[in-house]
Amino acid sequence: MGKAESFEQVLKESRVFKPSKEFSALAHVKSLAQYKKMYNESIKSPDKFWAKIAKELHWFKPWKKVSDWKEPFAKWFVGGQTNICYNCVDRHLPTWRRNKAAIVWEGEPGDSRVLTYNDLHREVCIFANTLKKLGLKKGDRVAVYMGMVPELAIAILACARIGVVHSVVFGGFSANALVERIHDCQAKAVITCDGGWRRGKIVELKAAVDEAVVKCPTIENVVVVQRTRNNVRMEPGRDHWYHELAASVDANCPAEPLDSEQGHFILYTSGSTGKPKGIYHTVGGYMVGTYLTSKLVFDLKDEDIYFCTADIGWVTGHSYIVYGPMANGATCVMYEGAPNHPEPDRFWRIIEKYRVTILYTAPTAIRAFIKWGEQWPQKHDLSSLRLLGSVGEPINPEAWIWYNNVIGKKKCPIVDTWWQTETGSIMISPLPGATPTKPGSATLPLPGILPECVNKETNKKMPPGEKGLLVVRKPWPSMLRGIWGDNERYKKVYWSTVKHSYFTGDGAHCDKDGYFWITGRVDDVIIVSGHNLGTAEVESALVSHPKVAESAVIGVPDEMTGQAVTAFVTLKDGNQPIESLKDELRAHVAKEIGALAKPKQIRFTASLPKTRSGKIMRRLLRDIASGKETVGDTTTLEDYSILAKLRTDDE
Ligand code: PRX
Repeated sequence: MGKAESFEQVLKESRVFKPSKEFSALAHVKSLAQYKKMYNESIKSPDKFWAKIAKELHWFKPWKKVSDWKEPFAKWFVGGQTNICYNCVDRHLPTWRRNKAAIVWEGEPGDSRVLTYNDLHREVCIFANTLKKLGLKKGDRVAVYMGMVPELAIAILACARIGVVHSVVFGGFSANALVERIHDCQAKAVITCDGGWRRGKIVELKAAVDEAVVKCPTIENVVVVQRTRNNVRMEPGRDHWYHELAASVDANCPAEPLDSEQGHFILYTSGSTGKPKGIYHTVGGYMVGTYLTSKLVFDLKDEDIYFCTADIGWVTGHSYIVYGPMANGATCVMYEGAPNHPEPDRFWRIIEKYRVTILYTAPTAIRAFIKWGEQWPQKHDLSSLRLLGSVGEPINPEAWIWYNNVIGKKKCPIVDTWWQTETGSIMISPLPGATPTKPGSATLPLPGILPECVNKETNKKMPPGEKGLLVVRKPWPSMLRGIWGDNERYKKVYWSTVKHSYFTGDGAHCDKDGYFWITGRVDDVIIVSGHNLGTAEVESALVSHPKVAESAVIGVPDEMTGQAVTAFVTLKDGNQPIESLKDELRAHVAKEIGALAKPKQIRFTASLPKTRSGKIMRRLLRDIASGKETVGDTTTLEDYSILAKLRTDDE
């Protein structure tokens, strides 16, 4: 695009970027026609389509039935036995990939490690035998609370190898958040590190585990991987150094044949009520979904050096650092620390150093790069890049164009991938050699996936350009199998809004070409830097502070983080709404949930606007927070004077 053209024009014009002939010629899917053919076939005969993909992987025992759908419960590859760890590791060993790099890891301080598939196999076997030695068995749950070190990938693969269900808790969450997640899934052990490096400082992971575990009677053992060598307390009998356990186990541990529907992992995500939901995935379908989407969306080839910047604590790291790429035998770059440590060019330095060909990151990161300035990427040779990806929230066209021009040098297709923890794998995304892209649109559904924008009342598809609820009409292999321990909540959250359809919680519209434009959440979930936070979760953290009587939390648009948390707080009598209390409350939320949930803005108010039935009118709060005049219906508002009061409180 010419220099004179502004970003605003892009917004208005809805430009189309076609994949280059050179890219398409070498891609797995080479044209829109090829994609459409594949898509139509997959929707016409889904079982046939998925069976063909699944057969590209290893099964110890073939399935009897491809899918079994008893709404809202799905089973895939029923009766089949497989092992996702086997498919990610062992499957490559008899091939030339044996000595191919599986993980190229860069530590934040500048150290690095490379593990070939053969090395990875050895490490995973040892880790799995250590877990066995601690008495862990198929079906047991283990919490994993670590920094981004190779042992994190190794640990989850080791769990998968023996059928232990992992529940990774992001290392940025607090001890209290860890307690809640351990309680919910009744984990028997925690795998952690002494500490992790973040912006040159040590994140005290083990100390947080110590604080958590005293409140978790189900935890029998804590395995500690040494990383930062800071002083940690080791509770005799309960805590074990990983390297000490590992020294005494065998390096051979065959992968266990597991039922396709055997539990694979639980990953907690925020919902619109207070308690995080344990999203539950099983082995076979998740494996097939992540395998196929990694291959098609990232157009993975054996020569690629693939770098996903997510943390394994989020689903993106599960599906697109570990399981999907490794099922394809890819070389995955993994980075431990912050993107701006020691300087804001760390990602570009890594790309140049390892000759990264595919970069998968988030809009919030891209917006930070824009703010830090073009001089940082310009210092580095990024010519190895051939494909760029985005995930986590809608990417604004301005960020898209910057990504395309400054990082991709206008030669790399961009895949804007829409999906969720619940979907397990990417659902809507361009295929880079086939799909013309439009900045801001996740484009078209992947093969086997049938999303629609629908009218909530009529359950009919919305006409082009009109916003509706984003639903998925048919089950797919990597879909969640439920919310851990709560089938009723599973039915209510996902299957009761729109009949016979999976409700995503997102709003979207389709354009005349059938392209999806995701507009964000329609429920009470806030997405901060691509991470889900439930308003209720932050509210209950605030209310647990002794000085707080009531609170209402909303998401407001934020230039850097997409959305930011704004909290309206009423104090218990006798407490003064002073500035220092805001910091105290922020620190309290960080302790209860984690730093990412800290409200950017806190507004003290004498009361909150409520309906007669006592429901907080968030819409009004949103209007106030964004400085808008209150429009819309206020007839159900209990006390009109509160609105005026809220505004003046703020001035
Ligand atoms: O609102 C959508 C947004 O992120 C939500 C899912 O969040 P989570 O389960 O944490 O998974 C994030 C990584 C897959 C979705 O409901 N979202 C994710 N990707 C996109 C997106 N919104 C728009 N465009 C995307 N590409």
